[in-house]
Amino acid sequence: MPVITSIADLKRLHKRRTPKMFYDYAESGSYTEQTFRENTEDFAQIRLNQRIARDMTGRTTKSTMLGQEVAMPVALAPVGLTGMQRADGEIKAAKAAEKFGVPYTLSTMSICSIEDVAENVSEPFWFQIYTLTDDDYNKRVLERARAAGCSALVITVDLQLLGQRHKDLKNGLTAPPKFTPAVLADLATKWRWGIEMLQTKRRFFGNIVGHVDSAADPASLSSWTAEKFDQSLNWDRIKQLMDMWGGKVILKGILSEEDAEMAAATGADAIVVSNHGGRQLDGALSSIRMLPKIVNAVGDKTEVWLDSGIRSGQDVLKALALGAKGVMIGRAYVYGLGAMGEPGVTKALEVIQKELDTSMALCGERRIENLGRDDLLIPNGFF
Ligand code: FNR
Repeated sequence: MPVITSIADLKRLHKRRTPKMFYDYAESGSYTEQTFRENTEDFAQIRLNQRIARDMTGRTTKSTMLGQEVAMPVALAPVGLTGMQRADGEIKAAKAAEKFGVPYTLSTMSICSIEDVAENVSEPFWFQIYTLTDDDYNKRVLERARAAGCSALVITVDLQLLGQRHKDLKNGLTAPPKFTPAVLADLATKWRWGIEMLQTKRRFFGNIVGHVDSAADPASLSSWTAEKFDQSLNWDRIKQLMDMWGGKVILKGILSEEDAEMAAATGADAIVVSNHGGRQLDGALSSIRMLPKIVNAVGDKTEVWLDSGIRSGQDVLKALALGAKGVMIGRAYVYGLGAMGEPGVTKALEVIQKELDTSMALCGERRIENLGRDDLLIPNGFF
């Protein structure tokens, strides 16, 4: 068993143990992948300000997100097909998050259903929906989320249509996979994945199966969703979806000050500055570059969070120091899941928390709420 000390270690193991089709699905951005790359590269350009002799005892990474106490202000982002990275992946990730004390968000495009996850955890989790045109579906799925006790709804607003990822097309991505000779050859070295997958019945999109006509091919349920993306989306429609839910709402996928102002005006409880992990508008700026302007515009009206590009506790520190009240991580925990299942997600969270705690101490900070620009050294003209 290799010694795991970083998110990069989990990523290497994920690649080795997971079918190429699903590893590539996670490890890709749209088109040229410029935004995907810059999300991480831009974090690296921001440096931390070392301080000494400031009594670092009694430190904590504890904080709150939406008024909920968290072990650190890091939530698991909604990730489609998590249950293809590893059998029952959504349940495993939700359990790890619950034990660790951070929020978990279940994607609409998950393999395990809302009910599957609810049966396996005791604390409320969050549910994510896309802005789909089908209100019959929206109402039913939100009713299921309410019945399962979900405590907040994440509405993803940056996917009115899909940014193309070349690798997915080339790999012929489907869930479950079609067993072509290439897929079978790949699986020969990934037997653990195959055995676990054979042992579970959860291999289709759990929140969509049963809704579409029973004759539909479950493997193509993602194309059902693709047809329903709402290209006519506007702010009235977003408000309508928020009202349909009636509880706490997080709007995810905001990347401009103007949109942040509009989002805050809807009464959203939080917004996520996000470019969908570089999977949508290739060429968009990284989330971390856009963050300060958005915090400045709406930070006193709603909680501003960030995702896209976080791979370490140092990255978390940088986002918090630039005014985010919390962050979401996607790939960082998916690597852990693909590498080692539930213990891998726990490992990812442990790595990030330890790095955050140590870096806070070496910056001379003891409390999340005290983090600020003084902790950072930022190149001129960066924002
Ligand atoms: C995503 N993301 C995403 N977002 C969402 O709202 N619903 C979804 O179903 C998915 N699916 C999905 C799959 C995969 C494989 C990835 C990597 C991402 C986006 C996700 O919630 C988040 O915005 C990004 O993952 C953040 O970037 P990092 O942390 O992965 O760099």
